[in-house]
Amino acid sequence: MERVETLVAEMTLAEKIGQLNMVASTGVVTGPSGSRATHQGIRAGTIGGLFNLWGADEVRAVQRIAVEESRLGVPLLLGLDVIHGHRTIFPVPLAEACAFDVGLWERTARAAAEEAAADGIAMTFAPMIDVARDPRWGRIVESPGEDPWVASELAAAKTRGFQGGDLAAADSVAATAKHLCAYGAVTAGREYASVDVSERTLREIYLPPFSAAVAAGTAAIMPAFIDIAGVPMTINPTLLKGWLRERVGFDGVLISDYNAVAELINHGVAADSVEAAALALNAGVDIDMTSNTYTQGLPAALDRGLVTMADIEASVRRVLRLKERLGLFADPYRRGSAAPDDRDGKSRRLLAREAARRAIVLLTHRCPILPLSPNTRRIAVVGPLATAREEMLGSWASAGRPADVVSILEGLKAAMPDCRIDDARGVDIDGEDERGVAVAIDLCAHAEIIVLCLGESAAMSGEAASRTNLGLPGRQRALAEAVLGLGKPTVVLLSSGRPLALSWLFERADAVLATWFLGIESGHAIADVLTGKFNPSGRLPLSWLRSVGQAPIYFSQRPTGRPTTPGVHYSSSYLDMLSTPQFPFGHGLSYSRFVLSNLRCEPAVVKAGEEVQVSLEVRNDGPIGGEVTLFLFVRDLVASVARPVLELKGVRKLTLGADENRQATWRLPAQALAFIGENLEPVLEAGRFEIHVGQTADPAGFLTGVIELAT
Ligand code: NOJ
Repeated sequence: MERVETLVAEMTLAEKIGQLNMVASTGVVTGPSGSRATHQGIRAGTIGGLFNLWGADEVRAVQRIAVEESRLGVPLLLGLDVIHGHRTIFPVPLAEACAFDVGLWERTARAAAEEAAADGIAMTFAPMIDVARDPRWGRIVESPGEDPWVASELAAAKTRGFQGGDLAAADSVAATAKHLCAYGAVTAGREYASVDVSERTLREIYLPPFSAAVAAGTAAIMPAFIDIAGVPMTINPTLLKGWLRERVGFDGVLISDYNAVAELINHGVAADSVEAAALALNAGVDIDMTSNTYTQGLPAALDRGLVTMADIEASVRRVLRLKERLGLFADPYRRGSAAPDDRDGKSRRLLAREAARRAIVLLTHRCPILPLSPNTRRIAVVGPLATAREEMLGSWASAGRPADVVSILEGLKAAMPDCRIDDARGVDIDGEDERGVAVAIDLCAHAEIIVLCLGESAAMSGEAASRTNLGLPGRQRALAEAVLGLGKPTVVLLSSGRPLALSWLFERADAVLATWFLGIESGHAIADVLTGKFNPSGRLPLSWLRSVGQAPIYFSQRPTGRPTTPGVHYSSSYLDMLSTPQFPFGHGLSYSRFVLSNLRCEPAVVKAGEEVQVSLEVRNDGPIGGEVTLFLFVRDLVASVARPVLELKGVRKLTLGADENRQATWRLPAQALAFIGENLEPVLEAGRFEIHVGQTADPAGFLTGVIELAT
């Protein structure tokens, strides 16, 4: 760290602030004035980081200016939103979460890091680990779903994958856990809206994934755009300093979200850029992303005594240390100097296919039409998503190219060469034009099987894509009604970045699959599942709502004083709708049928420091091999603070051949029964706990045991 100290000692104030200034690269390479200004800033040492620029040559060109033409030669930090793949686009994060597979989550992050690093990138703004329970919020597509335990597992896996064993390696990138915190709780699901959650909810639900990311060594963390009860996260000293730095011990880089420091003025907590810069720096935000507020405001803030040089230098040190850890001083051109191992990307394509098929969730299968018979001779593939390559990339597609995508139609044609497959769009994803419906219906009338491809466009989820109507956009329902009215075997493929409230469709189609946005291997993966080459194994990482009026919806509700029985007066329910989800957390059908039996929890009484061994038998009752996913929940029956009716504590996946029987086991440490007590500190309270194991969060399918925690 000698280099860091020497540099800090040599830097002018402008150069110090430069290290805290990351700008967007638009125009750097080819743009006119923007480009010159940015180059000039890099040369002057007033820009320390760039994002949205990638490509080995492009990165090398700007890095060369920083290293060779700036006074102190400090290399640039190159960042990018590599969210679900870089060139090879994997399923969107919500879809990948359906695999419930830490190994897979890590491998796709590793592959993304290799590709991004080969394009000169040293830092990704991922993983997004915001617990999300309200599908109106478009960013649910980027999330791990509703559960903090799952989000924590994903946070650690992605961090390991991006950063690899050695952050300095040419194929590693710094991870940025985002967005700290509770962004998913925006009021009424409206993007960027205010959040008001209790400190308990922060500690129980929204913060644990960030502790997990820190424990896994995340290099950076991004505070969320939102305010919590009036305090924007960008300037929240209680959470950024008190909780994150002091309590959790995070000593990496805090990078603001896009323009968030300047937006403190819009939030109404800073009068001008001087105050905004001072508030953010004092809360511990090291890098100002694009707003230029540190550059404009920090010198005056220093003069006015609103910030200290020591605090500016502390941030500079953290940024320089990150550059050092990334190996940028040792070799600024390390990333981008070699193509990733496997030049043609074959192995990454295989991984994309694996990830995509494991993300598919078979939601309903009312009539046994799947897998499609190999003797099928004529299929109609209908709907606006059938050939929509670009949409399959989903939100945040980094360097992904529509030309690399295998569409649903192409995938099916490749998988069923002896079957006649015709296609018709019918209607657009959005819009009012129904003129294509007649052509589509005519096509369907001649087919044995109809594959109806419905859903959202990629842009309907992601950032700034909240929706209040969670039905099918445009005239897709009219198309679907017309197709279903034919009474022919119909499989619906639902492409979306969120659960859609489509009870009418689930009741009428023979089978519905959630196919989300699966990335470049969409078509092959979907065909693998439809033809039975791959037995569907995806499970929902969230409760799928029936109606938008149920949002937010999640399984770990607290019990109320009243019953939840619908139809009973004075019960905690709705007059016009069930309060249960359309599909529970964990739901996902398979071509196999798994039967659970013989749950044992031993010993029946445990003490702090001990473990309970939970085991059960699983049998595959189906005709083919498949993968079962088991969820372990606990319920603390009586506690000083009411505990949720279910808390997820573990997941197991087992592959079982036809008729195979296997045992699943967990070792559940007594410590896992701790909760945030009345004083907001973790406590372990003696008492009885129910242990439930099921294939979903629906209690109807649980095996249940009871244990006692003795003090
Ligand atoms: C805004 C988004 O909230 C954040 O997730 C992203 O990393 C930045 N923009 C940079 O693109």
